[in-house]
Amino acid sequence: MLIKSTVFTMLIGLALSKEMAQDQVKAATLYKTGVIHNRIMSNKHATWDRQRAAGAFDSSQYPELGYTECVNGKAVAISGDANNTFQCNNVDLYHFLSHEALGSNGGEGSSSWGWTSPGGREFLAIGQSDGAAFAEITKEGKLSYLGRLPQYSIPSIWREIRGYKNYMVVGSEAEGHNIQIFDMTKLLEIDPASPVTFSNDEDLTGLFKGLPIGRTHNVVINEQTNWGYAVGAQPRNSSCAAGLIFIDLSDPSNPTSPGCDSQDGYVHDAQCLIYNGPDKAYVGHEICYGYNEDTLTIYDVTNKPNSTVISRTSYQGAAYTHQGWVLDTNWQEYLLLDDEYDEYDQVEPAADGFHVTYIWDISSLASPKQTGLFKSSHHSVDHNQYVWGNYTYQSNYGSGLAVLDIGSIPSDPTGAGVSEVGWFDIYPEDDAEGGVIDFVGSWSSYAGFKSGFVFVNTIERGGFVVKLRQ
Ligand SMILES: *[C@@H]1O[C@H](CO)[C@@H](O)[C@H](O)[C@H]1NC(C)=O
Ligand SMILES: *[C@@H]1O[C@H](CO)[C@@H](O)[C@H](O)[C@H]1NC(C)=O
Ligand SMILES: *[C@@H]1O[C@H](CO)[C@@H](O)[C@H](O)[C@H]1NC(C)=O
Ligand SMILES: *[C@@H]1O[C@H](CO)[C@@H](O)[C@H](O)[C@H]1NC(C)=O
Repeated sequence: MLIKSTVFTMLIGLALSKEMAQDQVKAATLYKTGVIHNRIMSNKHATWDRQRAAGAFDSSQYPELGYTECVNGKAVAISGDANNTFQCNNVDLYHFLSHEALGSNGGEGSSSWGWTSPGGREFLAIGQSDGAAFAEITKEGKLSYLGRLPQYSIPSIWREIRGYKNYMVVGSEAEGHNIQIFDMTKLLEIDPASPVTFSNDEDLTGLFKGLPIGRTHNVVINEQTNWGYAVGAQPRNSSCAAGLIFIDLSDPSNPTSPGCDSQDGYVHDAQCLIYNGPDKAYVGHEICYGYNEDTLTIYDVTNKPNSTVISRTSYQGAAYTHQGWVLDTNWQEYLLLDDEYDEYDQVEPAADGFHVTYIWDISSLASPKQTGLFKSSHHSVDHNQYVWGNYTYQSNYGSGLAVLDIGSIPSDPTGAGVSEVGWFDIYPEDDAEGGVIDFVGSWSSYAGFKSGFVFVNTIERGGFVVKLRQ
């Protein structure tokens, strides 16, 4: 009996330990070359060209929606209108405004981030193809449009925004865009009756011009150390190889770079933090968790520009390691990883299209272990997630916003105790098909506000304010 149960335990252990060495051949032929990434980008372009041709990006067709309670799994914002009836669970709609109502001519929403003023007012920067829209969320949960910062060069759907103190840092995949640094305190005195279009010449606090051709996928911020990290700044054949480009933000009016880390090539997304966790050798170091297409790559960036790669680890199911977040930004023991292409390429365990969140034990930075996963009941591609408290807020394209309670992971890293505590599907268009595996719907959310209002930015429609019921 004893022997049997030991074997059984070992088998479970094996079944759940799915981290793997990087496949060197695939890395060299498919990932480092950009073959897979280019394929994903061209599939996205094909979807968005089709949506544009079908008129889905003309956001003027999406009416303003007011408070709508989620009742019996549905938020019926417009009675009898299937396209304005949202599947939901424990999340109510407070407000919706289209990209057009949020000042955009091009629509095509992407990232978003929030800033809370010292007085407690809650502001948003909302990515759109033609710039970043600014809005305040009122006490009633309404979006109040305040103005916009136009794109620096040409429009692009890819616009990633992150907060740094009272600034927003805006990067884009558009060539020549550079990185805009905008002071959110400029919004404090705006009368919403007269929204302001800011000027790239006069209103930026700073502009970082040190990218190879002005484009970057994202800019990751570590407010504790005043460093920013441009990630995915193509081209791949530049000297930084689209790796981590270090940006000193201590004087936001004069961002400078001492160099970059090209050692593991292209970094799609990352999170950089001062380390405090079980791995004693790294306490006090600045660590970046890199989501590097086929691996979770962990860097020690304390000594810039001479940073080091601590480990590079792949996993069963890796198709496109996209993004992730640690459970606790202080005690860094676990992280969540999303893979953007495992559903699309039908790779196990996401082969059935019900998306997967991978759970990692990072208590040894040199040998992280994939301890389990959460299998969603929604059929869609998964995208960006951010952890706030015990919840991760995921923007999962066609299935919208999912909120998972991840508080059980430290006691059960298999993920068996993870549960969905909230859901709001902002893309009813694919409901009849049971959810499509495609790049439609929501791109990002921001759930860092004390009020509990969550902002969801969507590709086709515009911005939703929703709230989880407590
Ligand atoms: C919902 O939107 C889709 C896509 O725009 C459209 O094809 C469909 O006719 C709409 N359905 C209703 C009931 O309006
Ligand atoms: C990078 O590749 C492009 C073509 O893909 C080429 O035009 C360019 O000269 C290359 N740059 C470097 C620095 O090798
Ligand atoms: C980084 O490494 C180079 C080459 O070894 C060395 O010359 C330089 O002093 C180092 N810089 C720092 C900040 O450690
Ligand atoms: C998070 O969840 C854990 C385990 O259920 C619990 O002990 C802890 O109090 C929770 N933390 C918060 C902030 O709710």
